[in-house]
Amino acid sequence: MIYPIVKFGNPVLEKPGAPVTEFDDELKKLVEDMFESMYAAKGVGLAAPQIGISKRLAVIDVTSKEDPAARLVLANPEIIHTEGKQTQSEGCLSIPEFREPLTRANKVMVRAQDVNGKWFEKTGEELLARAFLHETDHLNGKLYISHLSALKRDLMKRKIRKLMRAGEW
Ligand code: NI
Repeated sequence: MIYPIVKFGNPVLEKPGAPVTEFDDELKKLVEDMFESMYAAKGVGLAAPQIGISKRLAVIDVTSKEDPAARLVLANPEIIHTEGKQTQSEGCLSIPEFREPLTRANKVMVRAQDVNGKWFEKTGEELLARAFLHETDHLNGKLYISHLSALKRDLMKRKIRKLMRAGEW
């Protein structure tokens, strides 16, 4: 099932998700639906709050479906190490049509549980490092725009409010 993506303005995006505690068939179905929804929206990462489910669960595939082995499920992720810096344009499926350059760590180690509840650690660089940080932020109720300057963020919010008023959001 493809879920619609929740957009900025919905409070579920700014609230920390609840820990995942049941690693059952329902979770497996949700994870499959999240991959399907992410691919349909042409994203490389999707967090459960973005489909209106306030849980600490995210899926990532930085190969955009090219490599099935690149699919990652992060339940209850924690960032345990970061190093270096990269500056790239960043966007979010919940804030469509907007992108801003953002400096993030270039190498990131995450600790998380997989779909079966097994803990693992994984190090990502460049886009994968950015995805780890961006998706973990989502699960803490934080959007990438919180890392922008207040000036840029306010400008973006003003444009979004205008779109909302026009019924285009
Ligand atoms: Ni996002």
